[in-house]
Amino acid sequence: MQFTVAIDGPAAAGKGTISRALAREFGFAHLDTGLLYRAVGAKGGNAVLAAQGLTPDDLARSDLRSLEAGEAASQVAAIPEVRAALTAFQREFARRDGGAVLDGRDIGTVICPLAEVKLFVTASAETRARRRWLEAGEGAASYEDVLRQVRERDARDMGRADAPLCPAEDAVILDTTEMSIPQAVDAAKASVAAKLAELQGQKHQ
Ligand code: CDP
Repeated sequence: MQFTVAIDGPAAAGKGTISRALAREFGFAHLDTGLLYRAVGAKGGNAVLAAQGLTPDDLARSDLRSLEAGEAASQVAAIPEVRAALTAFQREFARRDGGAVLDGRDIGTVICPLAEVKLFVTASAETRARRRWLEAGEGAASYEDVLRQVRERDARDMGRADAPLCPAEDAVILDTTEMSIPQAVDAAKASVAAKLAELQGQKHQ
C-alpha cells in the first residue's frame, strides 16, 4: 500500500512530534526532511556538491539539531540546485510500500502534491520560540534571541523564490498555539484515519 502523509509548517510548530506519533500509530516510515537540509548546511563548502553527495553518515551527525544548524539549513535551502538534488530521494521515500510520513516545508506543495493527507502545522512565533528556547536548554540563547531567529527563519522560508513555505490549497491547517501535544496528535490522527477509512470504503464499493 502506498499512502503519503505530508506535514509542513514553520520551525517548532510541532511537526516532528506529530509525524513521529503518526508513524508509530499507523506503522508508516518517517522522514524528517529538515535533517537533509541541516546535513547539507553542516557539511560546509559547496552546498550543491554537498547535497548531491549526501551520505547516511552525514545524516547521523550529532550536531544537526542545534540552533546554528537550523540557521545554516535555512540558508542552503534557498538554493534551487540544493533542493533539486534532494527531490528524488524524498519522492521515492514518500511512495515506499507501507506508507510514509514526511515533514518539512514543501512536502504538500512540491515534493508530494498528490499526498493522501496534507497537514499544515503552525503556531504563533512567540509560542514556537518559547518551545525552541526550552528545548535548547537554559544558557544556549536568550528567549529574545530565539524569537528573533524564528522570525528571521520564517521570513526567509516564506520569502524564497523556490518552494516557499506555504500551505497547499487542500491542506488541513492545524494551529497548535493553544493545543497540548496530545490534542494536536489526536487531531492529526483523526485526519489520517478518516482518509484511510475513505480509501477502504472505495475499495469495497
Ligand atoms: O525543526 P525545525 O522546524 O526548526 O527545522 P527543520 O524542519 O529541521 O528545517 C530546517 C530548515 O531547513 C528550515 O528552516 C528550511 O529552511 C529548510 N527546509 C526546507 O527548506 N524544506 C524542507 N522540506 C525542510 C526543511
